[in-house]
Amino acid sequence: MIAIITGATGDIGEEFVKKLINEVDSVWAVGRNESKLAALKDTYGEKIVPVKADLSDKEDIFEFCRKIADSRPEIGYLVNNAGVARMAPVSEFTLEEMSDMLDINDKAATLICRACLPYMAKGSYILNIASASAFQPNPYIALYSASKAYLLSFTRSLNVENEAITCTAVCPGWVDTKMLPKSGRNGSIRYPGMVTAAKVVESALRDCHKGKDVSVCSFYYRYMRFLSKVTPHRVTMKMWVRAIRQYI
Ligand SMILES: NC(=O)c1ccc[n+]([C@@H]2O[C@H](COP(=O)([O-])OP(=O)(O)OC[C@H]3O[C@@H](n4cnc5c(N)ncnc54)[C@H](OP(=O)(O)O)[C@@H]3O)[C@@H](O)[C@H]2O)c1
Repeated sequence: MIAIITGATGDIGEEFVKKLINEVDSVWAVGRNESKLAALKDTYGEKIVPVKADLSDKEDIFEFCRKIADSRPEIGYLVNNAGVARMAPVSEFTLEEMSDMLDINDKAATLICRACLPYMAKGSYILNIASASAFQPNPYIALYSASKAYLLSFTRSLNVENEAITCTAVCPGWVDTKMLPKSGRNGSIRYPGMVTAAKVVESALRDCHKGKDVSVCSFYYRYMRFLSKVTPHRVTMKMWVRAIRQYI
């Protein structure tokens, strides 16, 4: 039985590697950087199978999906974790940046789910790493937030369509990883309710084993999710913009 982890070279991705490596025969570690993949193999040993793929590239995504079909592996876990983010108004993005973000955050995860389904049996798990930013629209991370809302919606539907497989959208708030810039226009950035990557992964695995379709790892962000359900989004958007205005 194998685990497939995209973005395995990132902070949350490596935590998944650490937690799953003893549960499976091998981990297909998907990443775009060969030397980071080689370092992962040095650290975690022969169970790591490095798979080089740039998930902003349609050909690489399709080639990886073909590799899955050709190998017909028994997949115990699929973790779609690769992702990119940038805080800026939409008008400051280039078309290429926008296209890459949507391809990495959504297209790759969606196609890889489809490619894995035939090789996942009862009791296997899909974890799609979304974000608490999926719970409401968030100006200035509009594209990221919308891409994660897509992933949340897609994952919950997939969970209903495939009763034997548990599909969980993992929705952490701020996580202390290299994705988050340490400083903004006016000095260092404060991230309320920030947690470690280890905490996100522990609670994601606990929640998927319980059969949950959404995993939110801290009380603070479970409360924020509740708030976004009971408060009009024009109000929660105003609160968000007020909180981040000093950094943009
Ligand atoms: N940090 C947070 O506050 C936070 C909050 C909620 C959700 N998340 C989500 O958690 C996931 C992991 O992020 P992280 O915080 O662990 O950040 P990270 O350390 O930057 O990891 C991101 C991973 O995605 C990979 N990646 C980026 N572009 C890629 C591409 N074109 N092709 C293949 N792989 C690519 C990176 O590869 P390289 O190593 O080559 O760069 C890296 O392995 C993301 O989906 C993110 O949206 C993060």
